[in-house]
Order: sequence, then C-alpha cells, then structure tokens
Amino acid sequence: MNLIVAVDKGFGIGKDNGLLARIPADMEYFKEKTMGKTIVMGSSTYMSFPKRPLPNRENLVLTSKPENYPEVKCFTSTGELFEFIRGRDDDVFVCGGSTVYLQLLPYCEKAYVTHIDETFDADAFFPNLSELDNWEKTEESEVVESNGYRITFAVYENNDIKSVQDI
Ligand SMILES: NC(=O)c1ccc[n+]([C@@H]2O[C@H](COP(=O)([O-])OP(=O)(O)OC[C@H]3O[C@@H](n4cnc5c(N)ncnc54)[C@H](OP(=O)(O)O)[C@@H]3O)[C@@H](O)[C@H]2O)c1
Repeated sequence: MNLIVAVDKGFGIGKDNGLLARIPADMEYFKEKTMGKTIVMGSSTYMSFPKRPLPNRENLVLTSKPENYPEVKCFTSTGELFEFIRGRDDDVFVCGGSTVYLQLLPYCEKAYVTHIDETFDADAFFPNLSELDNWEKTEESEVVESNGYRITFAVYENNDIKSVQDI
C-alpha cells in the first residue's frame, strides 16, 4: 500500500474539510499516480470531493455509517479493509485525511508527498516523515510552479513496513 498527500511548510493538509490550495500540477500528479488504482479514504475526505466517487478508480471509504455511502464500498474498520485488499495492496493508494493517514501509515511502503512552499491556516495535518526513524526520503523533484505556488514532489520509503497479512 502507498499513500499520497500534499503538505504545506507546517505539514498542514486541509482546512474546514477542504484542501489548502488549488494547485493544478499537483492535481495532475494525483491523477497520474492513482488512475486505474484503488483509493482508500475517510468519509470526510470522500465527502470533500466535488465529484464522487472519483472516476476510473476503485473508491474505498472508511466509515462507521456505510448506509450513507451506498454508491461505494465501505469498511467499518481497518481490519475489514485489510481483509479486502490483502494480496493486492501494491495497487492501493491511501488518500487521507489526517485520521486515515495516521492509522494506515505503518502499512504503507511509499509516501508520495507534494511539498507546498507556503504556510496556510490549516486544521488537518500529516506527520513530518523526516522526523520518523523508519521513513527515508528517496526522491525529490525540481521545483515546479503552478497557480502561483512553488511545489516539489518527494517520495519517502518505509524501512519497517507492517504487513496487512498480519492483521
Ligand atoms: N492535502 C491532501 O493531500 C489531503 C488529502 C486528503 C484529505 N485532505 C484534507 O483532510 C481533511 C479531512 O481529514 P480528517 O482527518 O478530518 O477526516 P478523514 O480522515 O478524511 O475522515 C474521517 C472519518 O473517516 C471515518 N474513519 C476513519 N477511520 C475509521 C476507521 N478505522 N473505521 C471506520 N471509520 C473510520 C470516520 O467516518 P464516520 O464519521 O463516517 O464514521 C471519520 O469521521 C480535509 O480538510 C481534507 O481536505 C487533504
């Protein structure tokens, strides 16, 4: 399993259940990485999408109220989710938000992190992987400018992955 996220300088990822900025180059990157794959998200992130489910991807939603989202496959626990994705977790991208990143981070092999060179007023956050012993930055792009924002695309790898088979 992998994850994908865009963070600002303070590791903020969202505010009022929305994204911090509209950055077309990052949206393209997200699309490129997740197209044709399975995406996992919490119900708040799912509801934040203007158009849902996201097309051409299998949308999986974690929620305690599956009856509210009959159009997608829902899971009421991470254990139930792991049972479903077991054996094909290479093609799964965790897409947030904060609560879901925190729960699934130990099971992710790679983190695709877009760094936005700005500080926003955020109320949802992602951990700084550089401060965690088992995560190592293995790639970082040149600076890209998009919609007035300077961003870089980094890849981090987890050296101590927990297996979804163990659950
Ligand atoms: N910058 C980025 O890349 C990025 C990406 C994604 C999201 N975001 C932002 O992140 C914010 C949303 O994050 P969030 O942490 O508030 O919400 P979230 O993680 O998207 O969703 C939280 C909800 O997910 C469900 N949930 C989580 N873990 C569960 C579990 N183990 N079992 C069953 N249900 C579970 C619960 O839903 P129920 O209440 O339905 O039970 C919970 O209320 C928004 O601002 C969004 O825009 C940013």
